[in-house]
Amino acid sequence: MGNVAVMAKELVKWFGEEDAKTYAVRGVSFDAHFGEMLYIVGPSGSGKTTLLSMISGILRPNKGSVVVEDKDIWSLTSDEIAEFRLSTVGFVFQDYHLFPRLTTLENVAIPLILKKLDWNESIQVAAKFLEIVGLKERAHLPPVKLSTGEQQRVAIARAIASSPDLLIFDEPTASLDGETGRRILDFVKKNILNERRCIIIVTHDNRIFEYADKIMKMSDGKIMDVEKGGSDEE
Ligand SMILES: Nc1ncnc2c1ncn2[C@@H]1O[C@H](COP(=O)(O)OP(=O)(O)O)[C@@H](O)[C@H]1O
Ligand SMILES: [Mg+2]
Repeated sequence: MGNVAVMAKELVKWFGEEDAKTYAVRGVSFDAHFGEMLYIVGPSGSGKTTLLSMISGILRPNKGSVVVEDKDIWSLTSDEIAEFRLSTVGFVFQDYHLFPRLTTLENVAIPLILKKLDWNESIQVAAKFLEIVGLKERAHLPPVKLSTGEQQRVAIARAIASSPDLLIFDEPTASLDGETGRRILDFVKKNILNERRCIIIVTHDNRIFEYADKIMKMSDGKIMDVEKGGSDEE
């Protein structure tokens, strides 16, 4: 197993105050390693998205710490956190977060442009990744013209295009048919995962469990169980 990519320690997150306080995550610790595809599974409302948001620099925990590549991210300044997200993390949101006024191609190019690649180069790289997710012919349409499954694939292309060390997918195949879901996960596992990269996936979709190296089960804000995934050949 590779070096530790993400070290989460005693993470706690609640929403609301006093009587209305609800706990989303109640003390979660885990390590994720480079070269590893880690799955987090659990029922709706068990805290999976909240946990992902805390390890990717989006949502500040109430307690606990997150160390990514030896950086204690919640001790950084907000500018440093923004830079960390741009340089290190690729996030595929459950509801895609595509920009409605940009074309599909431009949506995929955005993180590359933000990383200061020049426009033409960004567009070229983006086109390559759109092709990978099977949407080459949709490049010039706005996201609203695409099906939900296609929008999900655009979000995946955008997250992988900037080659982040830490790739985080929140329910990436929820609105894809089984064949497309497997094709994308198969591609991610074979071509995107490598020894310098860590991929964390939240999913309900047991059709893609075969790609997991490790499966972490969450329930009611806690990790209940960790098991080896379906891809181990030992
Ligand atoms: N921004 C928020 N404000 C208030 N409650 C929230 C917020 N985000 C999540 N929660 C609550 O935290 C719990 C865990 O939510 P979430 O992390 O989205 O779970 P999952 O992704 O496993 O479905 C749920 O009870 C949810 O209602
Ligand atoms: Mg969720």
